[in-house]
Amino acid sequence: MSSPYILSLDEGTTNAKAMSIDQQGHILTKASVPVTLSHSQPGWAEQDPQAIWQAQLEAIKQCLEPLDIQQLSGIAISNQRESVLLWERASGKPLTPLVSWQCRRSVDICETIAQQPAAANIKAISGSELDPLFPASKIVWLLAHTERGYERALAGEICAGTVDAWLVWKLTGGKRFVTDYSNASRYQLFNIHQLRWDPLMLELFHIPERCLPEVVSSCGPRGVTSHVPGLPDGITIHAQLGDSHAALFGQGGFLPGIVKATYGTGSSLMTLMKPTEPPDPRVSTTIAWFDEQPYFAMEGNITHTGAAIQYMAKLLGIHDIDEFSRLAWSSPEYTGVYFIPALSGLGAPHWQPKAKGMITGLTDASSPSILARSAFESVAYQIADLFFAMQEVCGHPLAQLSVDGGPTKNQALMQFQADLLQVPLIKNNVAEVSALGAAYLAGKSLGWWPTYQDIAALEQHVEMIKPNPDASLIQAKYSEWKALIEQICL
Ligand code: G3P
Repeated sequence: MSSPYILSLDEGTTNAKAMSIDQQGHILTKASVPVTLSHSQPGWAEQDPQAIWQAQLEAIKQCLEPLDIQQLSGIAISNQRESVLLWERASGKPLTPLVSWQCRRSVDICETIAQQPAAANIKAISGSELDPLFPASKIVWLLAHTERGYERALAGEICAGTVDAWLVWKLTGGKRFVTDYSNASRYQLFNIHQLRWDPLMLELFHIPERCLPEVVSSCGPRGVTSHVPGLPDGITIHAQLGDSHAALFGQGGFLPGIVKATYGTGSSLMTLMKPTEPPDPRVSTTIAWFDEQPYFAMEGNITHTGAAIQYMAKLLGIHDIDEFSRLAWSSPEYTGVYFIPALSGLGAPHWQPKAKGMITGLTDASSPSILARSAFESVAYQIADLFFAMQEVCGHPLAQLSVDGGPTKNQALMQFQADLLQVPLIKNNVAEVSALGAAYLAGKSLGWWPTYQDIAALEQHVEMIKPNPDASLIQAKYSEWKALIEQICL
């Protein structure tokens, strides 16, 4: 194959992926290499930064093997957000594991910070409520658990960065320490209105600015490859943004009111919004991407969706997820059993970091099939909680939901979701929408598709799932779910 192409990386919680895409927007090749997430204590989650880099290199190798390397025109990056590590600036050596976005190790730090008067400004400045999800409290924990961490950070010897910053650092041979505005807006240290690391937040969390990356546009050159196994030197990195933001871009969510839901380990719902819209405690305000100007979005994160399915499958001793799905959807439609997967607290729109998971309504008749169904239904109910909250924030009905991610392959789940929301789902059949979105931004930077209209005109692989208008039973079940959630949130 000899046409020019972009290499788009998508480093996620469970897999490091790579995709190549040509000037027509066609996917040429793709590869995915698993990465391990370990749980050394209850509520903790971490990964090995070097293993992530090796997995990413392997995915790049597999993706590029069938292609002419001379035609590689540029690189795009999308990444799992909020996960953060420390490394040594002089040697590039990781000083800590990558503390996963899922990890709750900094819950006590958040509680202490919450007592300080300046904490009242966190949401207005950073766009998000104080929560251990975000890197700020994780960096506090990491600096405190690194020898002379704070002093070394103050002296500029330590880099504290998210996965995008780590990948750009590795790809450029340690020459660039940058994050983009979308990732920066998730640190809980960034002033999303003034577009800079915020002095008040840095003081509140007691984090030296010198350990944080430079913040750059999501679209445009930010460095070139240097000494990367399998890649020529001098290939420009043209795009960098968080995976959820990239998925919104990949779904063509260029206007407020187009809502996308990414179904992954957890889920994220996001739509562009006007920066003047007042913040709402149920959702975060975030920078979707920066492309000559910031594009603001509201976002809600749910911590366990795909992970809730996996958890229940494991609990029932079923390893094959297709078998687990068949079992689930063979259950009676009404079961009275609900699984609230607050396995590391409840995220948006409820924000209950200390909530614990529960299964309710069990009787003698509660079979594995009923339990399996409760896991799938919990995904749809959580998405619905957030969708309806966002609808209220937007102040007008949301006409549809654009969906992507692995669990969207499950037809029964998608039909259940559409019936519950009573709006059509627009399902993107490209599994790697985040990589696609990042590639689109890189293509824009390269001048392949100069406008958003050009990007929207590229071939899309979508299908519509229409809701069944008879929703009485599903609504009755959803009322039972909401009553349980209300009890948790009391
Ligand atoms: O906010 C966390 C999110 O970016 C993780 O994405 O695809 O790794 O589950 P994923």
